[in-house]
Amino acid sequence: MKVLNLNYKNVLNFISEAEIFALEKELDNARNALLNKTGKGNDYVGWVNYPLEYDKTELSRIKEVALKIRKDSDVLVVIGIGGSYLGAQAALKMLGKYFSSEKDLEIIFVGNNVSPEYVSELEVYLKNKDFSINVISKSGGTIEPALAFRIFRKLAIKKYGKKANNRIFATTDKEKGALIKMSVEEGYQTFSIPSDVGGRYSVLTAVGLLPIACAGFDIDEILKGSLDAYNYFVNKPLKENDALLYASIRNVLYKKGKVIELLVSYEPKLYFLSEWWKQLFGESEGKETKGIFPSSLIYSTDLHSMGQYVQDGQRILFETVIDVMNAKSDKILEKEETDLDGLNFLAGKDISFVRRNSLEGTVLAHVDGGVPNIILELEKITPYSFGYLVYFFMFSCGVSGYLLDVNPFNQEGVEDYKKNMLALLGKKGYEDLKNKLVERINKK
Ligand code: PA5
Repeated sequence: MKVLNLNYKNVLNFISEAEIFALEKELDNARNALLNKTGKGNDYVGWVNYPLEYDKTELSRIKEVALKIRKDSDVLVVIGIGGSYLGAQAALKMLGKYFSSEKDLEIIFVGNNVSPEYVSELEVYLKNKDFSINVISKSGGTIEPALAFRIFRKLAIKKYGKKANNRIFATTDKEKGALIKMSVEEGYQTFSIPSDVGGRYSVLTAVGLLPIACAGFDIDEILKGSLDAYNYFVNKPLKENDALLYASIRNVLYKKGKVIELLVSYEPKLYFLSEWWKQLFGESEGKETKGIFPSSLIYSTDLHSMGQYVQDGQRILFETVIDVMNAKSDKILEKEETDLDGLNFLAGKDISFVRRNSLEGTVLAHVDGGVPNIILELEKITPYSFGYLVYFFMFSCGVSGYLLDVNPFNQEGVEDYKKNMLALLGKKGYEDLKNKLVERINKK
């Protein structure tokens, strides 16, 4: 059974099926370039076959370590940024409960901001807790996580002495970078980020799987979902292939001036999936002055803030709505004796009924207002559907980037801020740049 179905009927007021299918040849070429490793950035397409080829021994180690951490820690501190952070966070929020009184391992992310308050409050919070650390960095040199690691490694050593090393797990490149060197020297157990998988395509590797396994979710099911997605998207022709259709529709809309895509969801637990998706598409496509700007909204809350703009603002938007078809739990509305709030007309209906009608009504209102809507019907939220969904997005992102004729696997634009920051912080070798920047900053 397909857990995900792309419904494009609500884009057909704006573009035609003929336009979507006209790209068939280009889409096939893009798909083949991904599979045969012949496109731009072809040394970073290891994620494409990953659901088939992942290291089974490492997967067993991930599960063992997860059990150990769940047994000996109250908190797992996950240090990482960008692709070394968002995928795991997306899974934890999406698969977890909104509220739970069960005592379980708490997972806290750090190293993704430079907030003095966040870091110092976390240090205090951990004081009387048993904790382990999973530091994640492919390059091993990204300053934000490296700084956080320095602080929390020290805290671990203070608390556990030499035994701290048994509580530190590094996920990084097998050979390159400061983190692998440090891990070898200190004897940390390591997990690898394959050299041909970039950060934002790494959620199905140890980068995502270790924290997800620590949270108690079934990572075999996640991989199974991604494998089924792989088999589907690699083999099916355009008319049955949601990943190719998604890439095609986005690109046709983009050419017609729809330069902002809003990923919309009615489940707040998809908030971090949207953050992960924004990084995936933003960092993959936003280059050479091209690319759709990815943004995201959570409805109903954002209908009462950004909904105005979506309905009536500049007509440069389209929406991709993740429609979770089946809720895990629900609530039936009861009839009240005196109908003071006037809601008795809904008695006997459940919240899913309200959501369904809110979604259908909103889609039509936005379509009438000039906003095309792609609907991604997700059967339900499970580890399997998470694996399927993230693979769907990654595959369509690779194809979509090739349609746009950019390299979807590099992120040279991110380097500029890093250079300026390191120069201003006083790193050796950056003296000239520092002088120039300071002059500009002090200019009246
Ligand atoms: O997608 C990417 O490659 C980036 O967003 C990286 O994940 C991010 O910059 C973190 O890099 P690293 O894992 O090397 O610390």
